Amino acid sequence: MTSPRERAAALRAELERHNRLYYVEDAPELTDAEYDRLFRELQALEQAHPELAAPDSPTQRVGGAPATDLAPVRHEAPMLSIRTETDTEDAGAAKFDARIRRELELAAGDAPVEYAAELKLDGLAISLRYEKGALARAATRGDGEVGEEVTANVRTIHSIPLKLKGKAPEVLEVRGEIFMTRAAFEKMNRRQAEAGEKLFINPRNSAAGAVRQLDPKITAQRPLSFSAHGFAVVRGWRLPQRHSEVLDRLAAFGIPVDSRRAVVHGAEGLIEYHRRIRAEREKLPFDIDGVVYKVNDLGLQRSLGNVAREPRWAIAHKYPPQEEVTEVLAIEVQVGRTGTLTPVGRLKPVFVGGVTVSSATLHNEDELRRKDVWAGDTVVVRRAGDVIPEVVSVRTPGPRRAEDRFEMPQSCPVCGSPVVRVAGEAATRCTGGLYCKAQRKQTLLHFAGRRAMDIEGLGEKLVDQLVERDLVANPADLYRLDAATLAHLERMGEKSAQNLVLNMERSRKAELHRFIYALGIPGVGEEVAKLLARHFGSLAAFLSADWPALMADKEAARKENAQRKKRAEAAREVPLEGIGPELADAIGKFVQEPHNREVIARLSGALQVSAPPRQARAAGKTFVLTGSLTGMTREEAREALEARGHKVAAAVSKKTDYVVAGAEAGTKLEKARSLGVPVIDEAELKQFLKER
Ligand code: IVH
Repeated sequence: MTSPRERAAALRAELERHNRLYYVEDAPELTDAEYDRLFRELQALEQAHPELAAPDSPTQRVGGAPATDLAPVRHEAPMLSIRTETDTEDAGAAKFDARIRRELELAAGDAPVEYAAELKLDGLAISLRYEKGALARAATRGDGEVGEEVTANVRTIHSIPLKLKGKAPEVLEVRGEIFMTRAAFEKMNRRQAEAGEKLFINPRNSAAGAVRQLDPKITAQRPLSFSAHGFAVVRGWRLPQRHSEVLDRLAAFGIPVDSRRAVVHGAEGLIEYHRRIRAEREKLPFDIDGVVYKVNDLGLQRSLGNVAREPRWAIAHKYPPQEEVTEVLAIEVQVGRTGTLTPVGRLKPVFVGGVTVSSATLHNEDELRRKDVWAGDTVVVRRAGDVIPEVVSVRTPGPRRAEDRFEMPQSCPVCGSPVVRVAGEAATRCTGGLYCKAQRKQTLLHFAGRRAMDIEGLGEKLVDQLVERDLVANPADLYRLDAATLAHLERMGEKSAQNLVLNMERSRKAELHRFIYALGIPGVGEEVAKLLARHFGSLAAFLSADWPALMADKEAARKENAQRKKRAEAAREVPLEGIGPELADAIGKFVQEPHNREVIARLSGALQVSAPPRQARAAGKTFVLTGSLTGMTREEAREALEARGHKVAAAVSKKTDYVVAGAEAGTKLEKARSLGVPVIDEAELKQFLKER
């Protein structure tokens, strides 16, 4: 017989472990329902035996009683701030390295300095104090000397361990950042909008606001994350020699530490890191405003010391901002491929995210009204990576005369057809279809796009002319063009006309998934196109599919028509996983629409569409690619694997079947090894691709 006390202790340890597996290691072992069962058992036990309640119990993560104010806390060691390098280019990194070498009195011939390089997370600085392995206190930075106590709030953040794993030091104060991922932020704002509540401005403000709540139950509802970047106080612990090793040890305690950190050498290493992270910046799940370099050797850190409140051994190296302020000159409407009318702000040109931006999307009528943007307003514009620039919010309203207010037109500004707004949908659409020249142009540009049929040289200027002169009305017409016709167009010489014809000829041999994607079926992006291509295996099978029978909603299909199901089974058709009934319906409507049918028939006569070998329904293996390959790019490896029905994932988890490790593979390789996931090299990958 176990006592309630023993059972509670066992449940806490078990829940804490599953918390870590889920929130920190991304390798859950339990379903949500199984976790809930354990959680409720512990809750019931604590209610029946109040003497067993403990602040570090996982049940406390839902948030306790509200406070009346946040108590001040004096930090045992001050929370420092960090110097910023304003030169966002390579030179910024070189300058820092030169300064460190000077201060360490190194000669030109001496070895490069070793640095720890990390992301500079854009969140709220926090200090976590663990005593005998249990989270004892959490405090904000405040003025660096005195912060605010936010322990009850911080306990609700699932990735922060309430108890450290393994043999913990007497005292350990961890410093790090509380932040929100962009996905969590957007999801939270969608929920706010649905509930008719006010929206949050950005992930950083939301994170800071959530941590400084008086009511921990509110904090508990906010999707917060944490990442450690250092330590302050330690007692009863043998400190490693390097900063990077401290972070390794924190990770071993179960504390989240970012996996993109690296140990690099000299200015070259810093520059390479700065560039690499800049290239990855848009794909990161959260916002960063730069990277941080730290002299890795803790002894050297001590000898370098601090100036004022900033350590001499660290620097933040920023990236160009992704948001800027500018003026809206006018609000116009653009008509897209499927007829959607998008309000677009014409802007006073502004340099943001590395390019000059002169227009930005306002998405749709509802978004425009929600943000309340008028012509003449001064607004915040955001451009992150390849994403279309958008108007984020109004900074200062303009004079706002009646004519500055945006009104959605009643008819299409391009073709004059009436516009409709379907109830329950955000989009206003032109009803002109391919009669509308705007839709025609966009359809052609999509068809010729790099990820679709990849017809190089068929750009906007050319498509404009082809449509305006009625030379081309749909994608099938493209394949009737000859060099003589093209050579007559503006900006086209004989040579470029011939090249374009050659490129079009080349595009006649097309892979099925690219062709399906190129058709521009509403709702069919690249991923869905690949799924469809794998499932059907040929263009003929795709076009003659019995769409209603293919709906993933098997239950409904069975009820609807048992006969049809039998037929489908006889033809060995399998339900299309990942495609819901609405999408199946839309695809069916598109391919059966008479005009589309005709265009597709003509295209299939003009093209040779090839397909991958038909795959068995059991999906393939899940791969993760890391490091650089020599005989192919990672993108090529991905395509080869996907063409054979395998999946390529971004992160390593227990569900990964193989990790392909190229040169200089980093943390993903480490993670694979720690999880026992098989690791293969490039030669083995090639063999694998040959065999299947
Ligand atoms: S180290 C020893 N490392 O940036 C200097 N700070 O002014 C202490 N921050 O609010 C900071 N990512 O919370 C360091 N990888 C990182 C960081 C980082 C974000 C924050 C920090 C503080 C500010 C520094």
